[in-house]
Amino acid sequence: MKRRNFLSLMAKGFSLGMILKLDPAGFGDLVHAQETEVEIDIEALLVDKEGEAFKLSSLEPHQAFVFSYPFASTPNFLVNLGVEIEPIEVIMPDESSYMWSGGIGPDKSIVAYSSICPHAYSYPSKQVGIVNYRAPDVENDIGPRIACCAHLSAFDPSQGGVVTSGPAPHAIAAIDLAYDEEADTTTAIGILGNAHYDKFFSQQRSALKDEFGSTAKAKKEVETAVVIPYAEHSAIDIPCPVSS
Ligand code: FES
Repeated sequence: MKRRNFLSLMAKGFSLGMILKLDPAGFGDLVHAQETEVEIDIEALLVDKEGEAFKLSSLEPHQAFVFSYPFASTPNFLVNLGVEIEPIEVIMPDESSYMWSGGIGPDKSIVAYSSICPHAYSYPSKQVGIVNYRAPDVENDIGPRIACCAHLSAFDPSQGGVVTSGPAPHAIAAIDLAYDEEADTTTAIGILGNAHYDKFFSQQRSALKDEFGSTAKAKKEVETAVVIPYAEHSAIDIPCPVSS
């Protein structure tokens, strides 16, 4: 399945991974030149730990799962929000915007987001789940959230990942998924929003090296995206008092 319009380098046949390897600093210019959407020309089928196509129909509401895409070190949330989620237009600080396509899956209730916080690029490592998913708190009338416990930002996964509290400057990036209803298979086909991969790799360089053995391994493009429960991805889930 082909991606929409791309940055000129992508159109000339350069993958994002190639650009990063060739010129990591230059990639920053690409990201900031396109504030609202970074096009990723990488497709990856979502699979389970056995390598079989992951069935979205198996996802129970509010159980957080994780898959790495487009790079080995960039985990994303996959969550069934339990109700149909409508597409919306997400507005960025520079007043540009992009369309977030809403929920997918049998009930159009499943969403996927980057777990890299757009504030200071915290992410859930294998040791510490500092960015995590919170199910709705019905008693206190609080909806589902993605929480970053580094500085208490919260994002609404039912509204394209918009910021609901804290210092994050804009919506957390979403993962563009293509769902084949008949086969119940799903392919990650790109990013919606700004995932800040350049800043992430720069800021987390040391941690990623420890975790993956080398920067090259951390930046390796995935060929398939293995979906695992969040609890198996991060050893310690950090709770924090995000209020909305
Ligand atoms: S890094 Fe997430 S709120 Fe600061």
